[in-house]
Amino acid sequence: MQAKKLRETEPFNRLMMEYRAAIMEVETRLKVLNEEFSQVYNRNPFESIKSRLKTPTSIYAKMAYKGYPVTVESIREHLTDVAGLRVICSFPDDIYRLADLLVKQDDFILLRKKDYISNPKDNGYRSLHLILSVPIFLSNEKKYMKAEVQFRTIAMDFWASLEHKLKYKKDVENTEEIERKLRACADSIEALDYQMQDIRDKIK
Ligand code: GTP
Ligand code: MG
Repeated sequence: MQAKKLRETEPFNRLMMEYRAAIMEVETRLKVLNEEFSQVYNRNPFESIKSRLKTPTSIYAKMAYKGYPVTVESIREHLTDVAGLRVICSFPDDIYRLADLLVKQDDFILLRKKDYISNPKDNGYRSLHLILSVPIFLSNEKKYMKAEVQFRTIAMDFWASLEHKLKYKKDVENTEEIERKLRACADSIEALDYQMQDIRDKIK
């Protein structure tokens, strides 16, 4: 099935509705934790949440690229990032605290964790990625949906956004030098993150 056709089918539209519900579900849990935190500790564990639903075109492209049949059931089974959330935190330790609390919600199931903070990618990319299975509550059933949640600090987000822009938009020359410089920036950013955290600890 083509991306255009896919977009027009009723089961596909329903699937997208279910992923939107999953995004809302995760977002609400995070916001509740933020509220509670600000009451108890007088500060917010995250700065902002961004969410996005993968477009039919990129769903189609990823399924085709991975060699999976493009059906609603197959998308449900194989894709983990149709529902995507990005949580921007102030400090590195907030990331782990918040991720931990989210995973501990008794109806959330952790399917996979990639810790690119303790194990940064070679290019310097840092973030904590969780793949969760979360319940959504529909009129006549409760259903589990997959969602990808990325946690990063403001500084990590700054790096990732610019790196993404630089890397994916252009044919890069001097690749090795550029890669080295990007990695150096990522390392400086890491150092800054922990310096800021240190300052926070001295202030409180
Ligand atoms: P995808 O097929 O792209 O989803 O990769 P994956 O299945 O190997 O998952 P991974 O957890 O490594 O990456 C998922 C997402 O993290 C990507 O779609 C990006 O949003 C983000 N990401 C991963 N690596 C990088 C990177 O090197 N730079 C930037 N800017 N973002 C990255
Ligand atoms: Mg992805």
